[in-house]
Amino acid sequence: MAHTVPVIPGDGIGPEIIEEGRKVLEAAADVHGFSIEWREYPFGADHYLDTGELLPDDALEELSRYDGIYLGSVGDPRVDDGVLEKGILLKARFYFDQYVNLRPVKLLPGVQSPLRGKGPEDIDFVVVRENTEDFYVGIGGRSETGKSRKELEIERSLYTTRFGLDVETDAEEIAYQVGQISREGTRRVVEYAFDLAEGRGDDRVTGVDKANVLTDIYGLWREVVEEVSADYPGVEHEFNFVDAVTMWFVKDPDYYRTVVTPNTFGDIITDLGAMLQGGLGLAPGGNINPSGTSMFEPIHGSAPKHAGKNRANPVATIWAGSMLLDHLGEEAAAKDVVNAIGDVILEGETLTYDLGGDAGTDDVGDAVAGKVRGR
Ligand code: NAD
Ligand code: IPM
Ligand code: MN
Repeated sequence: MAHTVPVIPGDGIGPEIIEEGRKVLEAAADVHGFSIEWREYPFGADHYLDTGELLPDDALEELSRYDGIYLGSVGDPRVDDGVLEKGILLKARFYFDQYVNLRPVKLLPGVQSPLRGKGPEDIDFVVVRENTEDFYVGIGGRSETGKSRKELEIERSLYTTRFGLDVETDAEEIAYQVGQISREGTRRVVEYAFDLAEGRGDDRVTGVDKANVLTDIYGLWREVVEEVSADYPGVEHEFNFVDAVTMWFVKDPDYYRTVVTPNTFGDIITDLGAMLQGGLGLAPGGNINPSGTSMFEPIHGSAPKHAGKNRANPVATIWAGSMLLDHLGEEAAAKDVVNAIGDVILEGETLTYDLGGDAGTDDVGDAVAGKVRGR
């Protein structure tokens, strides 16, 4: 069996960590009797600065022929905030309708969680982050963006009628960003979460929102969680407010099983989750469209200060590669990769700086690939 996998190394540490990911997946392919043909795409800061191109339509069209894309990270201090993030990463998530962002939070044996006294048996849950709605839909503006007086008047009257805010038309500069969710967009991701919970044998789904204040948007979200839960009598459900959940994740991580949450809160609480499992260098994620093109990446960014130093931890990316293999139907190979990561960490001889070692990015890739071949 041959799999063709498009790969976008991206910016900062992206190319270094992706190289190690590829190395390990190739080892897994050799061992399990399949092959991977990589199709590399140049999108990222350099390409943008050279050509002005972010992620063009013809590339999207081409990428849509594949089941899974492998992504490093995007973001570069030479480019204004948001240009690459929105123009490449979010563009792909939205274009391919990758409505699930699946982010496991799992402490591997041998990794020290910053939470005192917590071990691998205590930290093993999964966050299902909605990935195409909420505050990421891009509805917003600033009064200085060249809008006409008429447009500003309309916007401000919206504030008055909807929110009872008295904003004068010649008021000083304002900005706004509107969150939007839909019943259907919520239903599909919540169903995914309940199905996942059933598959994992989890007895509880926790919905995380802020329905006590943002009552319109997360009121609808909550209503849909209630409705969907009725179809899953074997799985309990409950709600946590997002502020409280940051406290509970730290206090009682062992309580959590499957967590489902809107996009923005999902972004925030999964960096916290990453820390519980030993840091961003260890946390993988998958942007999933169950019937389309998915995309696998570490949840961290391009960490520009570590770029080009052979210092970054490639484990999150290798683990994301394992999720990609699983998605491609290579379940046994996917398991081997995660087990190999576990072996290398438990041995403790080849660790990057963030785990207290001084190994290079490539040393960790070599070590994990070696374990995969030796299993
Ligand atoms: P970041 O995740 O890139 O890095 C934050 C810090 O986490 C780093 O300075 C480092 O200390 C640590 N870290 C991250 N990855 C690591 C690794 N593999 N090994 C060891 N330590 C690691 O977040 P940031 O600094 O806030 O953002 C940098 C850029 O990345 C920005 O342009 C941002 O928009 C972008 N970004 C991209 C993605 C993505 O492509 N998916 C995700 C998040 C941020
Ligand atoms: C992530 C990142 C992205 C997000 C940014 C870079 C657009 O933080 O993948 O978590 O907010 O989703
Ligand atoms: Mn994030």
